[in-house]
Amino acid sequence: MIKATAPGKIYLFGEHAVVYGYPAIACAINKRTEVEAEKTRNKDITIIPKNLSFKSIKFSFGDENRYNIPKKELKSLEYIRKSIKKILDKKDQKIGLKLKINSELPISGGLGSSASVTVATIFSLKELLDLDLSRREVANLAYEVEKDVQGNASPCDTFTSALGGLTKVEKNKELIKNKAPAIPIIIGYTNQQSNTTKLVEEVKELKNKYPTIINNLFNNIKKITEKGQKALEKKNLEEIGNLMNINQGILDSIGVNNLKLSKLIYVARESGSYGSKITGAGGGGCMIAITENKEKVSNAIKVTGGKAIKTKLTNEGVKIT
Ligand code: MEV
Repeated sequence: MIKATAPGKIYLFGEHAVVYGYPAIACAINKRTEVEAEKTRNKDITIIPKNLSFKSIKFSFGDENRYNIPKKELKSLEYIRKSIKKILDKKDQKIGLKLKINSELPISGGLGSSASVTVATIFSLKELLDLDLSRREVANLAYEVEKDVQGNASPCDTFTSALGGLTKVEKNKELIKNKAPAIPIIIGYTNQQSNTTKLVEEVKELKNKYPTIINNLFNNIKKITEKGQKALEKKNLEEIGNLMNINQGILDSIGVNNLKLSKLIYVARESGSYGSKITGAGGGGCMIAITENKEKVSNAIKVTGGKAIKTKLTNEGVKIT
């Protein structure tokens, strides 16, 4: 039996603009997904999830109909099924597997839950089946799975989950990995799922309607991200906070905020944060705040109807436990 865990992530700067090739910075967080994998005697694949959107499931590749799996459940299983298939195809053997999956990350909350499930599944199986794959190779396989399931995905989530630390992503450039800065952070979850595909589509429509305005806004996000990178290196909390607030103003202006998120962002500022913003696609999901008053900000988030997630930025990518 092998147990692997992989982290989720937050976007510190640059989400949405990154879809159009502008730079963004993300960092791994110490909220993780754990996958416990073992071989079984028969040829079935059994998945036992905890905190995911489906119940325990048994199937065999190519014979899913025999197991009467509801279509909706099959869809939410896609990341796991395709991850298993990627590894079994490399081994070229039909073996039975049992996987127990437990995630600390909210599903569709903007914290990279699907990437962490995918990376942890691939990593646990490559260990179980003795395959020689580096963390970067695992990140690439996980990215192929994400692209396959979502149609269009950024490599940022899977890369950050596999390697840990800070990731700078920019079109046509190698992804850059740096050390996670030791800055105090709180995540606020709206308890609403975020629909990334829909939000990215809405931003695209806005950009088609007002190309000059939106391109100028994205150019400003690029400047914020570049200044933010330096502020993160210097751990200058005041500057990081200011830049997050400006980044948030732009995210608001492109229509990806909503009332619940907005309330959490403002109560975090008013209860003693250097800055706060949406993290990820928005329209629900999560916000982040930079603060040394973690208790006060967490309480303010809770009182406003959100869930405070206390976490730290981490250098630990996927690992065997
Ligand atoms: C979603 O977490 C972040 C977006 O920038 C989309 C993406 O980068 O794939 C909105």
